[in-house]
Amino acid sequence: MGRTRRVTVATTADIPQVVERPPPALDSPVEVSRASSFDWKDHWYPIAFTKDIGSAPYPFTLLEEPIVLWRDGAGEYQCLADSCPHRLVPLSEGRVAPDGTLQCAYHGWQFRGDGACTLIPQGGDPASPRACARSYACRAAQGLGGWLAFGDMWRDLPYDAVTLIENVIDAGHVPFTHHATVSKRTSSGSFADLAVTERSEAGFRGLWPSGPRRGALGPQATEWRGPNLMRHTIEAQETRGFSNITAVYAVPIAPGRCRAIVRQPFKFKNRVIPAVMGLVPRFATHLDALKILDDDVVFLHLQEEKVVKAGLATKPPGQVGVFWRGHVWESGEGVCVGCAGQ
Ligand code: FES
Ligand SMILES: [Fe+2]
Repeated sequence: MGRTRRVTVATTADIPQVVERPPPALDSPVEVSRASSFDWKDHWYPIAFTKDIGSAPYPFTLLEEPIVLWRDGAGEYQCLADSCPHRLVPLSEGRVAPDGTLQCAYHGWQFRGDGACTLIPQGGDPASPRACARSYACRAAQGLGGWLAFGDMWRDLPYDAVTLIENVIDAGHVPFTHHATVSKRTSSGSFADLAVTERSEAGFRGLWPSGPRRGALGPQATEWRGPNLMRHTIEAQETRGFSNITAVYAVPIAPGRCRAIVRQPFKFKNRVIPAVMGLVPRFATHLDALKILDDDVVFLHLQEEKVVKAGLATKPPGQVGVFWRGHVWESGEGVCVGCAGQ
């Protein structure tokens, strides 16, 4: 990362100032010295597939903070708090000006990706700290070199990011909840050989040697990496002629709401298959893939309501890994450290 993010902070005079603070490296492990010091806002979160961000400003809410993304004149993705420093109008209601800055819809102030105001059409000093918008580090990442990006999808869900992560790690529910979608009730197997192989403050890795579908696909490896990534990997090149990763990013919008960003890349032994799969239009794969989320969505929302009402959450969902009960893995300790909020 070459650029730094500009963070607006309040001073004793209550005048916004811009300070430089480098964002964490994109692939750096989560550093947590104490659970209570975990800073949710000091990590990278995927927001959207780049193919879904057009020429207009793209609004999103991350950790209860409304933000806006856009592509500047150089084609780089930029991100600001979705609030104009002039009169607090959402900047996402504005437009991308011909010079690549973001122009507010109300009085036309324009902003660069680092938060600097470049124009106040009615006069005034754009260099004033009061004219500065809050900026966040933003970049496009994760090409899939060599893998076929089949099944990329996203959806905003009416339950917490922690509930989503727990659900996708819990392989035991798949044959029942997703019967006739991606599995069958008769495929339910034993987890007797399941083991956590590695734990750290960043998360854990585990291996299920017998794997899903009663061993038909071979072993399944699972990785949880805080604060938002769960990844299942199946290497079935020898038995079935393919490898597959299911990566689910649970992006916290607010307590009780999250965005699922799912990637399911494949690698096939037979090179004809990717060519054929590449012909399937995106909307077709999208419609089919979303059935999986439909299977869970109602009862996970209702389960979450009950858990909170029953006082089983020590804090509201979205702030702490309250739902982590280790259904499948022998212990979720490594995860809870990475998830705990302040
Ligand atoms: S509110 Fe944005 S320019 Fe006035
Ligand atoms: Fe599920």
